[in-house]
Amino acid sequence: MPEIHIQLPPPAAAAYPVRVGTHLLSELGTNMKERAPAPSCGLITDHHVARHYLDPARVSLEAAGYRVCTFVFDAGEANKTLRTVSAAYDALLTARLERSSPVIALGGGVTGDLTGFVSATLLRGVPFIQVPTTLLAAVDASVGGKVGVDHAMGKNLIGAFHQPAAVLTDVTTFKTLPALEMQCGLAECVKHAIIKDAELFNYIDRNLAAILACDSGILTELVAWNVQIKAAVVMADPFERGDRALLNLGHTFGHALETLAGYSNLAHGQAVALGVAAASHLAVQRGEYPAESAMAVEALLKRIGLPVRVPIADPAAVLNAMRSDKKIISGRLRLILPSEHTGKARIAGDIPDNQILQAIDYIRQDGAAIT
Ligand SMILES: NC(=O)c1ccc[n+]([C@@H]2O[C@H](COP(=O)([O-])OP(=O)(O)OC[C@H]3O[C@@H](n4cnc5c(N)ncnc54)[C@H](O)[C@@H]3O)[C@@H](O)[C@H]2O)c1
Ligand SMILES: [Zn+2]
Repeated sequence: MPEIHIQLPPPAAAAYPVRVGTHLLSELGTNMKERAPAPSCGLITDHHVARHYLDPARVSLEAAGYRVCTFVFDAGEANKTLRTVSAAYDALLTARLERSSPVIALGGGVTGDLTGFVSATLLRGVPFIQVPTTLLAAVDASVGGKVGVDHAMGKNLIGAFHQPAAVLTDVTTFKTLPALEMQCGLAECVKHAIIKDAELFNYIDRNLAAILACDSGILTELVAWNVQIKAAVVMADPFERGDRALLNLGHTFGHALETLAGYSNLAHGQAVALGVAAASHLAVQRGEYPAESAMAVEALLKRIGLPVRVPIADPAAVLNAMRSDKKIISGRLRLILPSEHTGKARIAGDIPDNQILQAIDYIRQDGAAIT
């Protein structure tokens, strides 16, 4: 079973394993005993995930001797809020969880972010275990220690850095994922490949049918590979002061499209795919990336089932929305562009507006505008 060790320098100063395999849900209790022994634990999940995996998780934890306090919330980004956090505090405090009691996030990125925030703040911090059940949570949200919830003013505006004691990914849970969720997770995998690893790009290309069919061996390899990439970036820059920004490839374009389209019309991974297509085209236009590479990127995104063109009413409105992204430092738009070849990217703070507008125009297609 692949195991990736994450070691963060001070002040984050954390070390924990990311285990990826096929029996981790049934072995949750024994893994937990090793990483976070305590008489009791909290188990947080949403109602979709609860239907499939709450019972096996609880059985495994109880067999290992934990008294389990479960908290189930209504699935969806709309519930990644302080209101749900508050309800989770009520449940866990009523069950008399102690300072040593770990809290487990069983679910996708919404559950992970929310549970991480609960763990970071409950009793000034309790151990936190991630059990991601979406591809996106496994390769992206569960690695890096960013936890938090949304605010009426915007997504992820309330949060903290809180590293888990372990991440345990059972890839067999992906079998019940809707196709769109697999596609969205793959958008982040393709992003990792473009910024850091051409070999991963080829691997996804070669094994796409097996990935979409949820072949456990291939998924284990895919997740472990992506975790290694994200972990290396995060370990080098735990508080996002430098190169961690590379992980935002496609995201400045993508967030703008998500905002304008409305979150229910464009899924995050779809927006990222469009953003990756725009950034790749921009790099080609600037002579920084081969046209054939950009074509291969688009072809792979399309085979995954992700969009690379979208009806856009007004490219200038997209550029304006990009400028209000919270990642912008002192009003300067910083874009991540593929650089020289697939597997390498750079942070570009000097792109003229007309080139950005041209890239937005490039991904624009005729039809009823969704943005
Ligand atoms: N902390 C970070 O660094 C980071 C990074 C990327 C994304 N995120 C966050 O992650 C969230 C998105 O994550 P997500 O896409 O996993 O969303 P999600 O948690 O909402 O899961 C997507 C949907 O799939 C369902 N689901 C989850 N696992 C399932 C399974 N195995 N079988 C069937 N259904 C299942 C969920 O109930 C939900 O309806 C966003 O809130 C985003 O902000 C955080
Ligand atoms: Zn993303």
